[in-house]
Amino acid sequence: MRIAVLGSAGQLGRDLCPRLAGEVVPLTRADLDLGNTAGVPAALAAARPDVLVNCAAYNFVDKAETEPEAAFAVNAWGVRALAQACAAAKVKLVHFSTDYVFGLGAARTTPFTEGDAPGPVSAYGISKLAGEYAARTFAPDALVIRTCGLYGVHGSGGKGGNFVETMLRVAGQGKPLRVVADQHCTPSYTVDVATATAALIARGASGLFHVTSAGSCTWHDLAAETFRLAGVAADLTPITSAQFGAPARRPPFSVLSNAKLAAAGVATPREWRAALAAYLAERAAARAG
Ligand SMILES: NC(=O)c1ccc[n+]([C@@H]2O[C@H](COP(=O)([O-])OP(=O)(O)OC[C@H]3O[C@@H](n4cnc5c(N)ncnc54)[C@H](OP(=O)(O)O)[C@@H]3O)[C@@H](O)[C@H]2O)c1
Repeated sequence: MRIAVLGSAGQLGRDLCPRLAGEVVPLTRADLDLGNTAGVPAALAAARPDVLVNCAAYNFVDKAETEPEAAFAVNAWGVRALAQACAAAKVKLVHFSTDYVFGLGAARTTPFTEGDAPGPVSAYGISKLAGEYAARTFAPDALVIRTCGLYGVHGSGGKGGNFVETMLRVAGQGKPLRVVADQHCTPSYTVDVATATAALIARGASGLFHVTSAGSCTWHDLAAETFRLAGVAADLTPITSAQFGAPARRPPFSVLSNAKLAAAGVATPREWRAALAAYLAERAAARAG
């Protein structure tokens, strides 16, 4: 099986490529630009895959509020073009989405399942939900995986590192950190998401799946656990989302249930603290090596 991975230089793509069973064709924006919808069919034909895994996305959650057309160009219209091209060429599409498709409506305290109605509260979330619908409408056999708060050894594209990296960098500079403690979700290690994704692909799974680390925490909890595990004495203060004042709204609760993943016979990812510990150990090893 020939598996092309778009976004192969991103933090999830980098960890997914080595875990896929088959001949892997890593693709970047230079090979297939989701912002150039007219060029998608020819780019797909050039890669000649049986499966196309799309790890590429416009991921700037706050910036999307002021440039929603840029987010939609990649996350919605680019994915629509990809799904149409995949369906026409009989290529299986695998696509990633986000817990930020949730957040609207009454306060929630139980993990969201794939059957729960989405309701995004940000331009980014709306663009990603549009992408989910486009993938599943135009490529009915598509596998769509929602995940959350990714951190991986390869950092995150143009974001200058993931949340954990940012916490360690700022603490290392001796600066105080004020981190939101009223958003509950499950930040996830890219290695664990990649492992479960590879298993779903190997099973030929289709439809919508949630794949995150187990359990849940706030961003403040994640920062505190990072510093505890790394042995860093940081000046860390919990604040509210309102105090932080980010341009984009975030869900107060967007914990995703992995029950469908388990029912599909795939080993579910470890608990978030164990995943974070593994990440910090592998990050240290990568830096030493
Ligand atoms: N990061 C998170 O916290 C998070 C949370 C939930 C869901 N997700 C989803 O998980 C998936 C992987 O995220 P990630 O963190 O691995 O992202 P990432 O590290 O930011 O990588 C995204 C990749 O997409 C590429 N890309 C951007 N625009 C493109 C375009 N127009 N055409 C082709 N490639 C393009 C980027 O290439 P360039 O370097 O050339 O820009 C980059 O290599 C995405 O679908 C994302 O929405 C992420």
